Amino acid sequence: MLVVLGSINADLLFRVARLPRPGETVLCPSWSFAHGGKGANQAAAAARMGARVRFAGRVGADAWGPILRQGLEEAGVDTSLLADSAKPSGTAVIAVEDSGENAILVASGANLEVDAEQLAGVAFGPGTTLLCQNEIPLAQTLAALARARAAGARTIWNLAPAVAVSADALDPVDVLIVNRGEAAALLGHEAEPEATARALAGPARTCVLTLGREGAIAVGPEGGWRVPALPVVPVDTTGAGDTFVGALAAGLDGGLAWPEALARASVAAAMACERLGAREGQPNAEAVAARLAALPPVRALEPAG
Ligand code: RIB
Repeated sequence: MLVVLGSINADLLFRVARLPRPGETVLCPSWSFAHGGKGANQAAAAARMGARVRFAGRVGADAWGPILRQGLEEAGVDTSLLADSAKPSGTAVIAVEDSGENAILVASGANLEVDAEQLAGVAFGPGTTLLCQNEIPLAQTLAALARARAAGARTIWNLAPAVAVSADALDPVDVLIVNRGEAAALLGHEAEPEATARALAGPARTCVLTLGREGAIAVGPEGGWRVPALPVVPVDTTGAGDTFVGALAAGLDGGLAWPEALARASVAAAMACERLGAREGQPNAEAVAARLAALPPVRALEPAG
């Protein structure tokens, strides 16, 4: 069982020729709604890949609340731990330019009331996984990770978006997933990708560094691997990282070996870029399996010298 503690948002998508510079107004013909929020995106991606997923978060007692709940349920996620809040539902304004690049503003709203106590009734233990991100209060994430780890669960933290954390905050984390910017914020400097992943790994912690169209690198106690990206023509890269994280968590929770789990996550993330919206392009396990052969091989890294 995979439990996701995190954010859920209504994404308001603006398709623009190019992203505005500071102070600039850019027009587009209309906007559209999409399901979003890093936590909910990851939960939906994992469920589509076949994992049994419970999502704990909060939606507002507004018009978006039932719509957001229904979107998760349609993806196959158990929403019994999704609570209501007096604050408005989390809302993101997302500008996507023709190249597929984006810029995102998030009004956190109900996500600010997500509480680790929402997991009080969850029986964490070996064979269970907790997955967290950074769009809810940090103290709640840290409390949940510590509790799940103490109970013997696998703990995964996608440290996105970047926030400053102390080094010991990573102690209860089995799998840390970051992109280049988040890794640099953690380390305090930029470094070459493999060196970055090695610096953030630990004796009991695997670091997965995502590299966009260059794939990802994972280094940890069980080994090191470089996984390429599936070549695609991106329509929208919003949430590609979320799909990668959710698919990877599903694979690990389901007992896949690291190279297989990484390969499936990489294919799923690339496929998610082929449609507009964070979740519209998320594939299921069969669709990923059908495109796995097009992924260049996962390569084992030489042990550090
Ligand atoms: O990672 C993409 C997500 O970030 C969007 O769905 C948006 O809601 C923000 O949380």
